[in-house]
Amino acid sequence: MRRLLVTGGAGFIGANFCHHWCAAHPEDRIVVLDALTYAGNLASIAPLIEAGKLRFVRGDIGERAQVATLLAEESLGTIVNFAAESHVDRSLEDPAQFLRTNVLGTQALLDAARTAWGAEAHRRGCRFHHVSTDEVYGSLAPGAAAFTESTPYAPNSPYAASKAAADHLVRAWAHSFGLSVTISNCSNNYGPFQFPEKLLPLCILNILEGRPLPIYGDGLQVRDWLHVSDHCRALELILTRSAPGETWNIGGSTQEPNLAVVGTVCDLVDHAFAAEPALAARFPRSAPAQGRSARSLIEHVRDRPGHDRRYAVDSGKIARLLGFRAATPLQAGLGATVRWYLDNEAWWRAVASGEYRQWYARQYPGTRGT
Ligand code: NAD
Ligand code: DAU
Repeated sequence: MRRLLVTGGAGFIGANFCHHWCAAHPEDRIVVLDALTYAGNLASIAPLIEAGKLRFVRGDIGERAQVATLLAEESLGTIVNFAAESHVDRSLEDPAQFLRTNVLGTQALLDAARTAWGAEAHRRGCRFHHVSTDEVYGSLAPGAAAFTESTPYAPNSPYAASKAAADHLVRAWAHSFGLSVTISNCSNNYGPFQFPEKLLPLCILNILEGRPLPIYGDGLQVRDWLHVSDHCRALELILTRSAPGETWNIGGSTQEPNLAVVGTVCDLVDHAFAAEPALAARFPRSAPAQGRSARSLIEHVRDRPGHDRRYAVDSGKIARLLGFRAATPLQAGLGATVRWYLDNEAWWRAVASGEYRQWYARQYPGTRGT
């Protein structure tokens, strides 16, 4: 039986991970620590809390003493660190918060693990797993080989730099203090519970509300899309099978330009409306309800400053050594994601209020908010 601390478990990937882990390992103890920033949403894990499958604690990974106490009192021997500021555009607005959470927060969490686990760490098989990103490797030229675990770090945004710094801290805590760590660097995730500041949920909601779909620059930037359920399976393999000290790249082997992915989402929503007339009554402002294709909402807007042109992840190591392969084809994963947002209107209506409205108005001035 494992006893896990999942930080950031009320966020997008963390919540999906909690659902995955509770289903796959019902005997394990899970404690979620989450500060519930704008991106954290208790509703995403509420069924697990209500069913007594996990304990939720509101708190900041930067509060070292509080975290060390929690680790000790719950005897938690595994940490999966999802907690972070995760949105590149916000890091361009306010880098300081990214350094506080992603860098200093990770350092405090590492120190809390050392304090709580002490000399017992190795005997108990303790593990600190740090969830990182492919963005630490920077941007690829067209045709350049995909990122491997030995690609040099070259982060370009404040977000990517903060994640790169955190990765270095995790490595250093292993080297200097003998902490048992693993790191994974993952490509763009999509799926249920994703906050609608990220490209795909933003576009799905905007189609339903009849708002423009903002495509940065020419829209030909390439991302390596991975369904979040595949990411969770990869993390499970790492937590159960990886030796300490390893780093793992996780990608979807699905490189697509933004414009193509958004176009597919538009077509999927159009098809859903064509097959299900009740949707037009539920979403009267949507493009298909008004007799237009969702693609007609696409608008090219000012590019993101310093926008990375292309990411692609070589998942060869995790495929060879842990047997991981992304199992969700992009078209099917996008279809399921569109369906999830259609079926979970209450979730995103609650999320897309408050702070989100203000952010949206700042980000896309002159367009109608939610
Ligand atoms: P998210 O923004 O949806 O969720 C982050 C969660 O962390 C939220 O619940 C938030 O409340 C919590 N949090 C923030 N600051 C905290 C703090 N100081 N203490 C405790 N909790 C705090 O992020 P996500 O998309 O789920 O990403 C999770 C992790 O995966 C991040 O580390 C991110 O860098 C990494 N990652 C994300 C992607 C992706 O495509 N989304 C890809 C690769 C890696
Ligand atoms: O690569 C992994 C990273 O993927 C994670 O580390 C980050 O946490 C996660 O946010 C994501 O970063 P991106 O910047 O790639 O994701 P985002 O959804 O913000 O943007 C995806 C692409 O779409 C990117 O090229 C920018 C573009 N974009 C984004 C938004 C929000 C648009 O064209 N229009 C938009 O409105």
